[in-house]
Amino acid sequence: MKEARRIWQRFAALPGASLDGVVGIASEHAIAGLIEVLGRYRPRRILELGGGIGTLTYTILCTARRNGLTAVPGFSLVTVESHPFCLEQLSKNLADFDGAYRVVPNTEELRARGETFDLLVVDGGGDLGNDLGIQDVSGSLETGAVVLVEGGRIFQRRLLEEWYGHRPHLTFKSQSLKKTLRSQEVEGVACENKPYHLLVFEPSLRDRWVYPAVRRINRTSIRIQRLLSRGKG
Ligand SMILES: C[S@@+](CC[C@H](N)C(=O)[O-])C[C@H]1O[C@@H](n2cnc3c(N)ncnc32)[C@H](O)[C@@H]1O
Repeated sequence: MKEARRIWQRFAALPGASLDGVVGIASEHAIAGLIEVLGRYRPRRILELGGGIGTLTYTILCTARRNGLTAVPGFSLVTVESHPFCLEQLSKNLADFDGAYRVVPNTEELRARGETFDLLVVDGGGDLGNDLGIQDVSGSLETGAVVLVEGGRIFQRRLLEEWYGHRPHLTFKSQSLKKTLRSQEVEGVACENKPYHLLVFEPSLRDRWVYPAVRRINRTSIRIQRLLSRGKG
């Protein structure tokens, strides 16, 4: 949690982090959740909807650099952002990571190229007041991908369920912030007591046990048939 707090405090003090004293960046809770997800699932291709001023983008890049994910061949991070102010802040706030991530204005070109992802971070591209239009990510997630949704974002979670709910054993794990941050930690900023949501595709029992067993039986029977035909010849 220490790292999540360090990141939250750094970004909460930056230009554009809050409006009228209400913080608009990702919560410390979501940052901590993202760090955990990166360590647990080690996703190679990551897509973020709504880069904003870069709180979660920075979290991904810092964590991936620390735990060796950036060195994995094919590691990539794409963030969707099109607001001019945010684009400027992103490049300032992520100056240490120049060239380590890609910014696109929407998901169209990703979809046209058939790019797919192992982790989707959702903090934009939905139906909220500061969103700039709904972003289509149907067909963009790999089997077994993980989705972290910052805050509630019920509309987008429903959309994701519509797009991916047919996958076997789709489970929603919802976690809520237990502790509200003290607002005096960053002067003039109140932190929202928001939850984040994890959408995880877990393999079904059939995928986990029956298919591998059938594959093993098939391989063994092919080997036996070969041995028998060699014996005859
Ligand atoms: C809540 S903010 C993201 C905050 C960011 N995660 C952070 O903590 O710094 C949402 C961002 O998504 C961007 N956004 C929302 N919908 C978008 C869309 N359709 N296309 C591009 N950017 C979008 C907005 O410009 C805004 O900066």
